[in-house]
Amino acid sequence: MADYKIYLNDSEIPRQWYNLAADLPTPMLPPVGPDGSLVPPQAWEPLFPKAIIEQEYSKERWIDIPDEVIQILYRWRPSPLRRAVHLEKALGTPARIWYKDESVSPAGSHKPNTAIPQAWYNKQEGTETLTTETGAGQWGSALSFAGSLLGINVKIFMVKISFDQKPFRKMLMEVWGGKCVPSPSQETNAGRNFLAMHPDTPGSLGMAISEAVEAAVTSPGGKTKYALGSVLNHVMLHQTIIGLEAKKQLAIAGVKNPDVVIGCAGGGSNFAGAAFPFIQEKINGANIDIIPVEPASCPTLTRGIFAYDYGDSAKMTPLMPMFTLGHEYVPAPIHAGGLRYHGMSPLVSQAVVEGLCRPMAIHQSECFAAALKWANTEGFIVAPESSHAVAAAIREANIAKEEGKAKDIFFCLSGHGNMDLLGYHKHMTGQLADYALPQEEIDFAEKVVQNHPKAEMRKSGRW
Ligand SMILES: Cc1ncc(COP(=O)(O)O)c(C=O)c1O
Repeated sequence: MADYKIYLNDSEIPRQWYNLAADLPTPMLPPVGPDGSLVPPQAWEPLFPKAIIEQEYSKERWIDIPDEVIQILYRWRPSPLRRAVHLEKALGTPARIWYKDESVSPAGSHKPNTAIPQAWYNKQEGTETLTTETGAGQWGSALSFAGSLLGINVKIFMVKISFDQKPFRKMLMEVWGGKCVPSPSQETNAGRNFLAMHPDTPGSLGMAISEAVEAAVTSPGGKTKYALGSVLNHVMLHQTIIGLEAKKQLAIAGVKNPDVVIGCAGGGSNFAGAAFPFIQEKINGANIDIIPVEPASCPTLTRGIFAYDYGDSAKMTPLMPMFTLGHEYVPAPIHAGGLRYHGMSPLVSQAVVEGLCRPMAIHQSECFAAALKWANTEGFIVAPESSHAVAAAIREANIAKEEGKAKDIFFCLSGHGNMDLLGYHKHMTGQLADYALPQEEIDFAEKVVQNHPKAEMRKSGRW
């Protein structure tokens, strides 16, 4: 009988992270200021500890994972690789569907993979408090969990609409000692300005980032820093433990490289974590179809503009080269599936520019229908974000069926949805409509970025 669950022993956990920046055929453009001048590493020091900044700029292919970090990750890592045999059977597909189960972490998602090292490096350099933003609450709870283990206070600005709709995530943050306020808030200049301009705003990740950055840089004494849960290079780096473990597990199952690799993409970190080790294989000649999946309501990679843009709405961060819907983007409240950030990781963006990935956008009704199919075959309740990857895996398994090919499809199940049942309920009771981002909003994004330094799309032409 084939194995449906593949575990690694603790001793087989990867000891190094993989840095795609070392292998990208065309290097990424650097972060810049509004006048186009390069942002030197020191400019990030009010926000991040030096070790993290070093990783942000590093071109080393392999970076050691500190042993103390590994000891903490052992609480749930290595995570299982599972095969979705029941779904395969229900679909009647000859494809094998493999998935890395990141829902087994204490916070219920992949986010602790970077929360732990970020908190650890901060602790080494004397940080006492970390500020951050959170959308649906997964990242805020992951950082609260990390702060609780490492003795760091955590202050979270949570996008207002989620704060109101997801009280359990807020409680979870509080269980681990995190302090959570709805954003925009009255606590920062940025928050007060957003509220003065748009008193009824549902909030956005861009706004919450502005508040968290401001709270860190204006706090006296330099012992308060900021932590970001996605987008930046060091976050992508920490998440590669997912794909590195998966490679070992797939090899045990006799799969050298899967035919298809899928991850949902908000800021890009679980996709990057699962996919970058396979992108390395692709750069070295393997034939792998690598798919980041995003919501049709927030189509950063499929319809966004490749430009230099700010990471936050109040323009406090440096400008980064990325696919973006413009830093002023506010997501439509009708979308329940998460993944609502205006930008995309510069590393993921460059991999897309290079043609190494094939982005896909899917509407939320198809995603929730896929999540229900998953719940009624495999049994687990996936996060609305992860449902995008499930929907894409089902699409690819159906294509394999039409082609009569026994493909290996691998995807990252980034988190469980046990606290997201409201979205499921709304879908099942017909309260969710599909929403494609109107073209006017893309046109507006063009205007938002038009006076930013120009980001040239550079690629090798190999893919
Ligand atoms: C469960 C889950 N999956 C995916 C994401 C998307 O983020 P990223 O693209 O950074 O992995 C999130 C974001 O909070 C999440 O909570």
